[in-house]
Amino acid sequence: MSMHKKIDELINKRQEARLGGGEKRIEKQHAKGKYTARERLEMLLDQDSFEEFDMFVTHRATDFGLDKKHFSGDAVVTGYGTINGRLVYVFAQNFTVLGGSLGEAVSNKICKVMDKAIKNGAPVIGINDSGGARIQEGVMSLFGYGEIFQRNVEASGVIPQISLILGPCAGGAVYSPAITDFVVMAKDSSYMFITGPKVVKTVTNEDVTVEELGGAMMHASQSGVAHFVRESEENALFLIRKLISYIPQNNFEDTPRVSCKDPIDRMSDELNDIIPESPNKPYNMKQIILDIADNNEFLEVSKSYAPNIIVGFARFNGKSVGIVANQPSYLAGVLDIKASIKAARFVRFCDAFNIPLVTLVDVPGFMPGTSQEYDGIIAHGAKLIYAYAEATVPKITIITRKAYGGAYIVMSSKHLKSDINYAWPTSEIAVMGAKGAVEILYRKQLQDDVNGEKEKKLQDEYREKFANPYIAASNGFVDDIIEPKNSRFRIIRALESLTNKKESRPMKKHGNIPL
Ligand code: HXC
Repeated sequence: MSMHKKIDELINKRQEARLGGGEKRIEKQHAKGKYTARERLEMLLDQDSFEEFDMFVTHRATDFGLDKKHFSGDAVVTGYGTINGRLVYVFAQNFTVLGGSLGEAVSNKICKVMDKAIKNGAPVIGINDSGGARIQEGVMSLFGYGEIFQRNVEASGVIPQISLILGPCAGGAVYSPAITDFVVMAKDSSYMFITGPKVVKTVTNEDVTVEELGGAMMHASQSGVAHFVRESEENALFLIRKLISYIPQNNFEDTPRVSCKDPIDRMSDELNDIIPESPNKPYNMKQIILDIADNNEFLEVSKSYAPNIIVGFARFNGKSVGIVANQPSYLAGVLDIKASIKAARFVRFCDAFNIPLVTLVDVPGFMPGTSQEYDGIIAHGAKLIYAYAEATVPKITIITRKAYGGAYIVMSSKHLKSDINYAWPTSEIAVMGAKGAVEILYRKQLQDDVNGEKEKKLQDEYREKFANPYIAASNGFVDDIIEPKNSRFRIIRALESLTNKKESRPMKKHGNIPL
């Protein structure tokens, strides 16, 4: 065969591989309002940057008629490309081939890109759209998942791992995304569960739809499994491009820096008026975050899950930081089980990838009550202490109003080795709020206090004494009391001063975070 004929043959084989399960299956995928694996990768990556691996790989299975069903490249498209010029490894399950099901060959392809991502220190992004373990391949499919899980764990904290769910993700297949750092879902087209509605009906006799059982909104607000939900596949893919921009390539790289046109000394008079006179009145902490961050930009993570705490990414003078902030406008910003878990996981992600932490505090304490105690607020709250105490990245804290009790300690206090702690003049740093404190301290004296006047007086006295930042400042537990409008500038300066921070903890195999 002449060279030209051989090249033609290659072109034909490539074309065949690009069709995956064939035109009809592609049409079916489009009819469901879904894109194909290759279309998704095209949208995710910089134009013409995709380099594909293993386009000619096929499975080796022979049972259940699979010996007659071979698809070039099998049910996943893998390779690497760039996002805003930065290297990423990718795999996209191809639903048009045997329902995107995962057997030996698919697993081998995915493991190959994961291995390369770990070796070359670049993020791995997986697009999931699959019927799960390929039934015809039996235990080889289970082997395949096991190999992926092991790599997910080995890569954890070494390279960022992002999972995008754009179709079914069922059975044990959900556990690979669950180990990754971020799970992104699209409304109405993606769902995740360990067993579908039919099995649920058999086992628990519940009638439930796929949406209710494992849809994007459920996972965003109830289970917390999804960190981001977007309206469409396009928006979900675009979100990943944005998310990647805040994250270093691996655990040896510093937090990314982009050029910043927003003046570093931009002051904000509104911040001097944002805290209401009454300590029980809420305000929106997000306004403060948006106000102080570069270009008023904030990428919120896990927005609909435990809104009493806010976590997400922002930039200060072009440098990425992770923000953790209590939200007084939802449950008064209390720390409950979900809030503790959400924030602890985020803090650990930032620490693993050298992203400094900026913590904004307005917290009345941990949530009391039987429901929280029965479900283990002690163990879950401890996760947040653990995460902050373990974190060695630059840590900057601003107390805006309440910082009471254990919650004061948890929220990146000096006692958990935070580097720079500021307080606004409106801060109240105490063991508890005035009402609770007076009730405990003066229970007997207040028995004859019919009109509540004595109680009010005692509360005022308590507030006067404790509900301010000056006692903490006199002990050096806050480094300075700052005017709210200067917060942006003070954070930027603090971050700059911590650029070369070096801190370590005792050597160990790994700690034992209370899971
Ligand atoms: C082999 C599969 C498959 C699978 C789908 N297909 N899932 N082939 N193994 N797991 C095939 C179908 O037979 C069909 O082939 C084609 O893919 C498209 O599937 P449809 O059913 O026509 O598509 P749709 O109506 O969109 O339904 C999608 C679906 C459904 C909801 C995912 O296919 C489904 O319920 N599949 C089984 C899901 C499941 O229970 N998987 C195992 C989970 S256990 P033809 O040629 O007929 O068109 C698991 C264990 C993992 O994953 C353990 C890891 C530790």
